[in-house]
Amino acid sequence: MSDHLAIAQWYSATAHDWAVAPRFNPVDRWYHRLAVADDHEVWLLTWLPGQATEIHDHGGSSGAFLVHSGDLTEDTVSTAGGRTRIASRELGEGVGRRFGGHHIHRIVNNGIRPAVSVHVYGPALTSMTKYRLGPDGLEVLTVERAGAEW
Ligand SMILES: [Fe+2]
Repeated sequence: MSDHLAIAQWYSATAHDWAVAPRFNPVDRWYHRLAVADDHEVWLLTWLPGQATEIHDHGGSSGAFLVHSGDLTEDTVSTAGGRTRIASRELGEGVGRRFGGHHIHRIVNNGIRPAVSVHVYGPALTSMTKYRLGPDGLEVLTVERAGAEW
């Protein structure tokens, strides 16, 4: 299967088969790799209200994510003509989206209840660059690598 959103939907629909039940960690966001295949991997992430990622890319992997329960907000960062723009989108339960290899975003739980989401990356993530928004646009904060930082 190469439709990453369809894979995320399948894992969400078969939550009773997850090897690990989702947990919530107020200190560090909880995540767990549900599956790995030749051309993709599947992660489960949880979000307490207020928990968020930093702005990040996916090291060239494309993928999809789906809100399994709760509500999440995605802030998509794009740069065109030297201008940086942020587009926010709310994703409710059952809603997902695909993204390409150049997608830069942050995800936050702005809701009042915990959220669980399923994320598919293809190929499997090897690195993620984290950014911040500075006066001149995106600034690299760190580059994290599979096997070292997660
Ligand atoms: Fe992401």
